[in-house]
Amino acid sequence: MKKATVLATFIALTLSTSTLAMPNKPDPLANTPYFNQTDKGFDLKFTPKNYRTLEVKVGDSLVKFRAFEKIVYVANPIEPDYQTLNIYVPEAYFKGEKINGYSAETAPIFLPNAVGGYMPAKAVTYDAKGFGSGDKPNAIVTALSKGYVVASVGARGRTLEKDGKYTGKAPAAIIDLKAAVRYLHANDNVMPGDAKKIISNGTSAGGALSALLGASGDSNDYTDYLKQAGAAEASDAIFAVSAYCPITNLENADSAYEWEFNGVNEYSRMDMSRLDANSYNDRSQVEKAKIEGTLSADEIKVSDQLKAAFPAYLNSLNLKDEKGNALTLDAQGNGSFKDYMRSVIASAVDKAHKNGASFDGKPWVKVNKDGVSDIDWDGYVHSEKRMKSPPAFDALNLSSGENNLFGTETVNNKHFTAYSLQHSTEKGEMADKQIVKLMNAMNYLDQSKTQHWRIRAGTSDRDTSHAISAILAVKLRMNGKQVDYQTPWGVPHSGDYDLDELFQWIDSISK
Ligand code: DHB
Repeated sequence: MKKATVLATFIALTLSTSTLAMPNKPDPLANTPYFNQTDKGFDLKFTPKNYRTLEVKVGDSLVKFRAFEKIVYVANPIEPDYQTLNIYVPEAYFKGEKINGYSAETAPIFLPNAVGGYMPAKAVTYDAKGFGSGDKPNAIVTALSKGYVVASVGARGRTLEKDGKYTGKAPAAIIDLKAAVRYLHANDNVMPGDAKKIISNGTSAGGALSALLGASGDSNDYTDYLKQAGAAEASDAIFAVSAYCPITNLENADSAYEWEFNGVNEYSRMDMSRLDANSYNDRSQVEKAKIEGTLSADEIKVSDQLKAAFPAYLNSLNLKDEKGNALTLDAQGNGSFKDYMRSVIASAVDKAHKNGASFDGKPWVKVNKDGVSDIDWDGYVHSEKRMKSPPAFDALNLSSGENNLFGTETVNNKHFTAYSLQHSTEKGEMADKQIVKLMNAMNYLDQSKTQHWRIRAGTSDRDTSHAISAILAVKLRMNGKQVDYQTPWGVPHSGDYDLDELFQWIDSISK
């Protein structure tokens, strides 16, 4: 396994958690004009002009490609620097050649978003150091080397402000990603790549948006927003979703978190206020900015109450395992769903064990002659500290990134759960119910047009409950979708750490 691109702990302030979307990082295209700006505004028809020809080294070979950058994908952008696509196309396709069995007509379009923390994110751009990762192969370079057309996409995020108004609150980010997908469909005849084969990729908040993009393709719920933005009149459905540790299902994430981590009273998180964009990239500084603490008696009470609310939600989903057995929880949070989660983690541990990982000093891992037979769930849960104090997402004092996501043009932070509204320390307001709905992939799974799903959440991820990804995966499978869901052993909150496997999967569904 390649070294993970670890996303730092997420706190509300001004820093992005994504390694890709640092606000203070110089933008290599800052002085480049918009690709498609005309006297009459932004032209949504792709013209294969104004490109740079670039090359990157991938292993021993050199991949040459054309870069069509800073394409504003809506006619009425509010934040044009964020509402852009960078399209990268292997040069071979302009000579009628094939790569990896794909041609200019058949190459799937890889759509990585750079969103972290629901912050604004510019489309990742090629610069002197490659695609922001230096010599390390990253998803974009890997995609190009395997013959994919890459549509690197930016989106508005929760902290943007213009003329005294917030311009990136929910549902801005998903509207933007949908508009970008529409641009690709609208230009399918004139652009290299096959818009019927769009594969979305994202991590964390970006993973949640990737899943939401797949769930809600062509849903009418977003039409008015897309019209207002001046999105192309075309489909916004996609072919496949890759989602790493999706921070989704925010309405239920607080109770899911306490269902999993109740009883773990020690926490460890990053104090972003002690980091700036430079020290953020410095491991030793990041380590120093960690806050360790213990939940107060009041917080433990909140944890108990939220935990108690989870079984009713889980049972309302009527989940079933692959054999058709009901996955449920009793009032204490025990039952077949918990057994299912235990088996998911146990099989990840078994896989790592078979690959030579040692579990010495981990008595909660039960090893016999055939490998890992089981794990003790409580032992696993208590093997690391929790990351968030309760409520993990809808903070009672409105301080979380998610409170900030559900603000409006004029109100910076809002609640989005009944529990936190009721227990608010700030007389907080409730977010618009419909907007909260628009941000949750779970609400659209029954109408999803996306057949192929790959979902990953590492066993060391403590940013949201493992139940969140598991519920998403189980529901998709029940709906007849092809789902590749795993919780790789020891992997923290991160994405793009298994590019070989990721592209093997994409090839397997695309060919
Ligand atoms: C991200 C992480 C979080 O813990 C969270 O609550 C939201 C987003 C992220 O890394 O994108």
